[in-house]
Amino acid sequence: MKIAIGADHAGVELKAHLMARALEGHTVVDVGTTSSDPVDYPDVARAVVKLIRHGEADRGILICGTGIGMAMAAGKYPGIRAATCTESFSAELSRRHNDANVLCLGGRVLGAGLAEHIVRVWLAAPFEGGRHATRVGKLEDRAGGEIH
Ligand code: RB5
Repeated sequence: MKIAIGADHAGVELKAHLMARALEGHTVVDVGTTSSDPVDYPDVARAVVKLIRHGEADRGILICGTGIGMAMAAGKYPGIRAATCTESFSAELSRRHNDANVLCLGGRVLGAGLAEHIVRVWLAAPFEGGRHATRVGKLEDRAGGEIH
């Protein structure tokens, strides 16, 4: 798979670890950041989303301090299903049931070993389709339309 990965300053160390230890066999596009100088997580999320939406990446991994801001930022774009995960059961179900195409992790939450495990599980798990496809489809039409 082609994987776009990005982090802000709070996730830069975990990003380096994952790139070295959890993504072998995949083509990886690193959108940055590469130092501890502060950057704004919505800008990093946008760069990863752009690659996915342009068909230049199949999936994305985004890392900030908690994984929360990245999921909020990425999830605003059509076609992006971003899941913040702190353990592997949710990571697996985010693929099987939600067809998550972006995994968000917290560099200040997770140890390197657990993060590595979560990534491996998330990359390997398939989307189950069926009834879940109906539900995922409703995400794109805002589950029935705008709320006024
Ligand atoms: C940066 O200090 C921090 O707010 C950011 O990495 C992230 O955790 C936001 O959700």
